[in-house]
Amino acid sequence: MTPAGTIIAVDGPAAAGKGTLARRLAVAFGLPYLDTGLLYRAVGRRLLDAGADPRDAIHAEAAARALIAEDLARTDLRGPAADMAASAVAAIPAVRAALLDWQRDFGRAQGAVMDGRDIGTVVFPDAQAKLFVTASIEERTRRRLAELRARGIAADPAQVEAELRVRDAQDEARPVAPLRPAADALLLDTTDLDAEAAFTEALQLIESRLGKD
Ligand code: DC
Repeated sequence: MTPAGTIIAVDGPAAAGKGTLARRLAVAFGLPYLDTGLLYRAVGRRLLDAGADPRDAIHAEAAARALIAEDLARTDLRGPAADMAASAVAAIPAVRAALLDWQRDFGRAQGAVMDGRDIGTVVFPDAQAKLFVTASIEERTRRRLAELRARGIAADPAQVEAELRVRDAQDEARPVAPLRPAADALLLDTTDLDAEAAFTEALQLIESRLGKD
C-alpha cells in the first residue's frame, strides 16, 4: 500500500513518454493522476480562442486565474498551435503562480502522480519520489509522429522535430521554473525502452526510493 498523501513527480521534456508512464504509475500506486501540461494548454487555448497573443502576460494571468476543471476536458488542447501556446504562457511568471495553488491543492488532497516540467523542483520539492524521463530527440520525434498519425494527422517529420526543439529550448531557458531534473530525481532514459519496459523500470526505481523513506 502506498502511504496516504504520497506524491510522485514525473518530469521531463515533450514526447518523452511521461504521460503514458505517469498514468500507469498512478494506477499501480492507487493515486490520483494529474497531467499538469493540460493546465498550461487550457490557458493557452483560452488566449488562442480570444485571438490574443499567448505571450500577453495580463491576458494570460487572467485566463489562468479563471481556469475551471472543465477547461481541462476540452478536446482541442493538443496539436502544434496548442503546444506552442502552452509553452508561451508557461514562461509567464504570473501564470505559473496562478497555477501553483491549483496543483498543490490537487496533490495535497489525496497524494498524486503528477507529470509536468517542474513538479519535482517547484510544485512539490518534497515529493517522496521524483522521476525525470528523457529520450533522444529522434525517438521523441518518432513518438510524436506516431501519436499524430494515430489521430489521423499527417505531419512532416522535420517540422515536428523542429517544434519539439523550439519548445524544449523555451521550457529550459525560461527564468521561472525551467525544465531541469531535481537534484534528487531518479533519471530514466526511455530511448531504447518500449512503454512496457519503461513502466517496469520506473516501477522498480520508485519502489526502491519509497522503500527507503
Ligand atoms: O507536458 P505538455 O507537453 O502537455 O506541456 C505543455 C507545455 O506546458 C510545455 O511546453 C511546458 C508547459 N508546462 C510547464 O511549463 N510546466 C508543467 N508542469 C507542465 C507543462
